[in-house]
Amino acid sequence: MVTVKGTAKWLKLRTSLLFAGKTVGFVPTMGALHAGHLSLLRRAKRENDLAVASIFVNPAQFNDPRDLERYPRTLAEDIKKLEAERTDFLLLPSAGDMYPDGYRYRLSETNDSKVLCGAHRPGHFEGVLTVVLKLLNLVRADRAYFGEKDYQQYHLIKGMAEAFFTGTSIVPCPIMREPDGLAMSSRNLLLEPGERKLAPALYKALRSPARPAGIKKRLAALGFEPEYVEERWGRRFAAAKLGKVRLIDNVQI
Ligand code: PAJ
Repeated sequence: MVTVKGTAKWLKLRTSLLFAGKTVGFVPTMGALHAGHLSLLRRAKRENDLAVASIFVNPAQFNDPRDLERYPRTLAEDIKKLEAERTDFLLLPSAGDMYPDGYRYRLSETNDSKVLCGAHRPGHFEGVLTVVLKLLNLVRADRAYFGEKDYQQYHLIKGMAEAFFTGTSIVPCPIMREPDGLAMSSRNLLLEPGERKLAPALYKALRSPARPAGIKKRLAALGFEPEYVEERWGRRFAAAKLGKVRLIDNVQI
């Protein structure tokens, strides 16, 4: 695997013969990689000649500075995991590389970014859409892979990629779960043992025949701090805090 640290270096490499005539699959991440991320990479590797991953903990999408500070960083392990999946390139930009404009230029969406997580995390999707457009412009992949774990994010990125003629197809990938049903997430590393034991109840509650309002009550009674339980786009979505950790999940209905 070739690891590339700066965006200028990357752009030089991207236009080199190494990429000539090859299809490219791209998986953007914020690191602390788990089997969910790796399932996206495996698919990128299978469906394209070259697989590119990026790791960048994007400050612009963290509405809570403590969440950014606490976000797990495990670069040495991440590199080993990416190598085991035979990833061809890893793009590792710094905040200065990604925001030469100091984040003066931003991309927003006026409708679907205002509901669910968007209603509770001001500026979050603006940060996500802005960084993903920058990454898509840098990598110029044929396909980019996103998990349905963050379904609203996938939905907004797909719309953005089409609206701005990026030329990259946005491919949705199924949610990877722990054996007890908890959706895999980098933030799961931050759960206290007692919270980790309770966490799969979120998925269980989402699958119950009860109505969203009833599910929200049930989650609160169990010790979660539910933010929302809501149905749209043929799915049922929930976000809830367990201690300091905010968990999200969704199921098809
Ligand atoms: P991150 O949370 O690191 O996730 C990177 C990708 O992995 C996203 O597409 C996410 O949906 C997917 N993913 C995470 N957990 C998953 C699981 N359990 N099953 C399947 N896929 C899963 O999402 C982001 O980073 C950032 O917002 C990013 C898109 C990189 C922009 O900064």
